[in-house]
Amino acid sequence: MANPLRCEVLGADAPVPLLDGSTVPYANFDNAASTPCLRTVWQRLSEFLPWYSSVHRGSGYKSRLSTVAYDRAREAAGEFVGADPSAHTVVFVKNTTEAVNKLAHRLRLRPGATVLTTAMEHHSNDLPWRARCRVGFLPVRPEDGTLDADAAEAAIRAEAGRLALVAATGASNVTGNVNPFRRLARAAHEAGALFLLDAAQLAPHRPIDMLAPDDPERIDFVVYSAHKMYAPFGSGVLVARRDALDDERGPDQRGGGTVRVVTHDHVGWADTPEVDEAGSPNVVGAVALHEAIRFYRRHGFGLIEQTENRLAARLLRGLLAIPGVTVYGRSDPEDFENRLAVVPFNVQGVPHALAAAVLAYEHGIGVRAGCFCAHPYVKTLLRVGPDEERRMVAALMADDRSRLPGAVRASFGFYNEDSEVDRLLEAVARLARGEIRGEYRLDRAAGEYVPARGEPDYSQSFALACSPRWDRVPPC
Ligand SMILES: Cc1ncc(COP(=O)(O)O)c(C=O)c1O
Repeated sequence: MANPLRCEVLGADAPVPLLDGSTVPYANFDNAASTPCLRTVWQRLSEFLPWYSSVHRGSGYKSRLSTVAYDRAREAAGEFVGADPSAHTVVFVKNTTEAVNKLAHRLRLRPGATVLTTAMEHHSNDLPWRARCRVGFLPVRPEDGTLDADAAEAAIRAEAGRLALVAATGASNVTGNVNPFRRLARAAHEAGALFLLDAAQLAPHRPIDMLAPDDPERIDFVVYSAHKMYAPFGSGVLVARRDALDDERGPDQRGGGTVRVVTHDHVGWADTPEVDEAGSPNVVGAVALHEAIRFYRRHGFGLIEQTENRLAARLLRGLLAIPGVTVYGRSDPEDFENRLAVVPFNVQGVPHALAAAVLAYEHGIGVRAGCFCAHPYVKTLLRVGPDEERRMVAALMADDRSRLPGAVRASFGFYNEDSEVDRLLEAVARLARGEIRGEYRLDRAAGEYVPARGEPDYSQSFALACSPRWDRVPPC
């Protein structure tokens, strides 16, 4: 079935070379990592760039115009998740990782405070908290990777008094499971804590509403990344309750733009968001995100959700019929309730990194393989026991990623097509039959397989993607 939304992204059918010298249109199933660029985002930036100038204190026409565009992007980034301008600050950062780190620095915490996160988090919503306080993990069920919501509520209640924050992902980047975040938020508030939603995966696929700042099921903090929302120009967002930030601590990054006044013996910090955006901001990234948000508003989430679910169900049906394929997490093609179109799997006898390489170099299909920056969760899904975990840690510390347990992940965007799913299924079926035509070399340190005869010449597609050997620009 042709997808009417396909023409909305750049490069959907870009031709890519295969090992045998032929060329096929690229099929991209790595959307959970980063999405392609929306055509309208690119067009809007080409309108904006001739007017681009430094923002804030510049007095010229272009500076004023850029400042207005930047401020309007900030409003849109807050409106997109239902922020209340009187209660929330909207801070532009470079991505979700920076947003969580910033919040982990700025959140007011009492000594001995606990943060509870879940056992399915991306490292970006885990490690920043470990650096600041005691962290506990709400349990997931190994059989399908869903959060055990009853046990989670009990764990939250048990921490009441010490608990500062529950920090949960809206949806897993490994299984696509969507968390019951309203329940978690209610439980957090009843325990006297606040609630952070990591919306890096959820925001591109489902509408988000923080609710009123006194609602028992409200979200107090939201973080998300523009590069997962078809606007890959280096912007991300932290939306935060202002009254929860610790103004005594000062900002995590200090410098231009963060202050009201500086003398040699006194610094007066500015208010948020200025104090939280040190240095010259990424105006172009903010404008790109604004245009992507306009796209979501125009199209709504209904067709996006319907399209992605239908395609993922087609993939699941096909994978389950291929002997030797294991799908992790929930695998029922009829059940897309509380789940995004993300499908992790393995092919028996084929290391996940080799499977990904064969899909890329022999079939022109982009997926991701490994642990997806969620080592503890993937280990649970793959039932990696303590002995194997010890061996894995030792190997990784010795710079050998070759035996890292993991899976292949196919993740969908609204522009994918049935024919691409069928190509992926055909390629996986060949892999399962042991049909690997190329020769590959394992790069142990990277844990990746590369063609024995070397990588393609990427500069055929983009001039600056050239090997340093070829990039001999004559000096002027
Ligand atoms: C759930 C989740 N949280 C956080 C991140 C980190 O996002 P970024 O790489 O944009 O900082 C990701 C990235 O994949 C993610 O999937």
